[in-house]
Amino acid sequence: MNEKSKLQKEKASTWKDIKPLRDMINNLPKISANIVFGDTFTLSLPSFDDDAIKNCALALRSWRKGPFQIGNLFIDAEWKSFIKYNILRPHFNLRDKKVADIGCNNGYYLFKMLEDKPKKLVGFDPAPLFWCQFDFINNFAKTDIVYELLGVEDLAQYGEKFDAIFCLGVLYHRSDPLGCLKFLFGALEEGGELFLDTFMIDGDEDIALCPKKSYSKIPNVYFIPTINALKNWCERAGFKSFELLGVKSADTSEQRKTEWILGQSLEDFLDPSDNSKTAEGYPAPKRAYVKLKK
Ligand SMILES: C[S@@+](CC[C@H](N)C(=O)[O-])C[C@H]1O[C@@H](n2cnc3c(N)ncnc32)[C@H](O)[C@@H]1O
Repeated sequence: MNEKSKLQKEKASTWKDIKPLRDMINNLPKISANIVFGDTFTLSLPSFDDDAIKNCALALRSWRKGPFQIGNLFIDAEWKSFIKYNILRPHFNLRDKKVADIGCNNGYYLFKMLEDKPKKLVGFDPAPLFWCQFDFINNFAKTDIVYELLGVEDLAQYGEKFDAIFCLGVLYHRSDPLGCLKFLFGALEEGGELFLDTFMIDGDEDIALCPKKSYSKIPNVYFIPTINALKNWCERAGFKSFELLGVKSADTSEQRKTEWILGQSLEDFLDPSDNSKTAEGYPAPKRAYVKLKK
């Protein structure tokens, strides 16, 4: 494990909001599951104490990415993450590759990528709650996926290079998107591929929307480019090719409030009288999915 990530994990494990979660995860029954790949990442388990597992999963809310089925327990996460995964799925083959997922959240995509039999899978995400969710799932899945409590800005120091990198839903959270793309470029092997998705706005101009205080009630959204502006950023970061794989508007069949999240979801983030606009009056969320080559 990377030294910085190890220190972050030791530090986070002592935080008063995380420590009870770490203790619960450490006390989970040590049973192995069979993995069943599908839109729902499923772990079939022998008979076990349902309540202990459900209570731990509930304590780990909010579950943003999923869904997961663990024995009898269905974790109906806020996002049906397979919709994004299935847009990208026809465009990659990870067999024998070193793969990183930057901003991997609870590792939903990494768990699904196991099906391809990659050489190595590494997830990067600095959020301790999502690391706990990953460890909860991995307690049963028992994979050798590496989870680093690090961010995209740590890639240069991390030193390792990857054949394929996924960086999904992260770029608009960065106040320096070009710098972020340069970190991703630097972490790829020659000829390596980056799969990216980001919020976008319509139009042909080379421009980006800069929300005043929040976008769709999300405070840390900084730049939302047109496809052309995104292409310019990618070229300036050094990427050779830019392939637009798809464009998709947000909708409540993909993202919605469930019992597995605390707080609001998409239905509360849009203008109630006009769903083509966010609560702030900006164009409603729409994503571009792209594949880039080093
Ligand atoms: C909108 S979510 C996207 C999750 C997932 N990649 C997806 O597309 O469904 C953004 C994720 O980026 C993570 N994140 C926050 N700061 C980050 C950083 N500096 N580097 C990488 N990821 C970060 C968050 O913890 C969160 O899991």
